[in-house]
Amino acid sequence: MTRFNDLFDRWAEDYDRTVAGLHPEYREVFAGYRAILEKVVQELGLSPGAKVLEIGVGTGNLSQLLLAAGLDVVGVEPSTQMRQGALAKLPDLALYEGHFLQLPSTIGLVDGVVSTYAFHHLLDQEKRQALTLLHRSVKPGGRLVFADTVFKNEDIRGQMRQEAKDKGFLQLANDLEREYYPLLEPLQQMFADTGWKAQFQQLNRYVWLMRADKQSS
Ligand SMILES: C[S@@+](CC[C@H](N)C(=O)[O-])C[C@H]1O[C@@H](n2cnc3c(N)ncnc32)[C@H](O)[C@@H]1O
Repeated sequence: MTRFNDLFDRWAEDYDRTVAGLHPEYREVFAGYRAILEKVVQELGLSPGAKVLEIGVGTGNLSQLLLAAGLDVVGVEPSTQMRQGALAKLPDLALYEGHFLQLPSTIGLVDGVVSTYAFHHLLDQEKRQALTLLHRSVKPGGRLVFADTVFKNEDIRGQMRQEAKDKGFLQLANDLEREYYPLLEPLQQMFADTGWKAQFQQLNRYVWLMRADKQSS
């Protein structure tokens, strides 16, 4: 259970329509959604059979691409309705109830970890804890690839909030007020402090790719 569980339980049924661009408020957030998920798989750079942990699976769209790449996927998702959506699509997916700070104890070390559109649900202190925990959960030489909303600086975060209000996108404006979208520089610092060697790349007006490597020992 996480603080946004109710929201995602309610959103689950309609979620795939939103990512397809049918919800005007979120069209820009999900612009190029499929290409973003494909980029995450490509940047992971793992061979078939490698073990990947996916956190915040949602309705399983990234899991589907990971499985199609022949990867051994273990998914974690806190929302019951989202898990049901993912399993309806991918009945054989190894999917656990859990979240960034509560991973299944049985998974062991993984080759890679991925997550899309989920990391910003953590407070900054929790993001730091999650990066530490994931660094421990990945084999030496392993990789983390996230895609999620990040703002380059405080001015841009403020402008995007104002723009959402001006367009009458009140749901989006509300998200931008109450969720924990990080700023680029503190986020870069957080990855470095927790042992990751990270690179960042902007993918659309909201979403950045975070690719981080754990050094081989
Ligand atoms: C916007 S959806 C993204 C779903 C999917 N990853 C995708 O890219 O379409 C965010 C997902 O993160 C999950 N989530 C929210 N808080 C979380 C947390 N603390 N840890 C892990 N997942 C979380 C939600 O339940 C939801 O399924």
